[in-house]
Amino acid sequence: KNIVILISGSGSNMAAIVNASLKGRWAERHGARVAAVVSNRSDAAGLAMAREHRIPTAALDHKTFDSREAFDAALMAEIDRHHPALVVLAGFMRILTPGFVQHYAGRLVNIHPSLLPAFPGLHTHRRAIEAGCRFAGCTVHRVTAELDHGEYLDQAVVPVLPGDTPEALAARVLAQEHQIYPKVVERLIAA
Ligand code: GRF
Repeated sequence: KNIVILISGSGSNMAAIVNASLKGRWAERHGARVAAVVSNRSDAAGLAMAREHRIPTAALDHKTFDSREAFDAALMAEIDRHHPALVVLAGFMRILTPGFVQHYAGRLVNIHPSLLPAFPGLHTHRRAIEAGCRFAGCTVHRVTAELDHGEYLDQAVVPVLPGDTPEALAARVLAQEHQIYPKVVERLIAA
């Protein structure tokens, strides 16, 4: 069973999943492996980590496509080369077309850095601090056509501390992301 992970930047969640798949021997235990890492940015730092692990990578620069649909079609073609049982969005910063979401219905997940349904969208940590939240966190969810609104698969909570900057809170949440995302992916792929 192949997992394809989509990234746009540092890919720390992708790295956590790759490391968990190796440490947890997913290939032997579940017949599962991370088959490819695909990015919409050729300068995504996570691509280098994937290459270090000899995981096939691809980068499709969305700016070279003349429509969202054209980009998504090329992205689907690249992803489908690996016949994925699961497509994992990990810091993938693109809004996906309904056609893309439909194509991967039931096998598409994402991680969002807030305790959904609070703070869908961007700048979640700054918004939580400005709202005076005492707690923040992250949510792993299935992806549906409505942004950040699919079935929740897991969440983790962290305290918002006095004087927290968005960066400090982001780091605290990210550490939890790296804990819950690999566990959800393994649960889904082992099923
Ligand atoms: C993280 O905050 C994640 O929740 C969001 O993208 C950010 C960077 O993730 N989806 P990564 O380090 O690229 O995995």
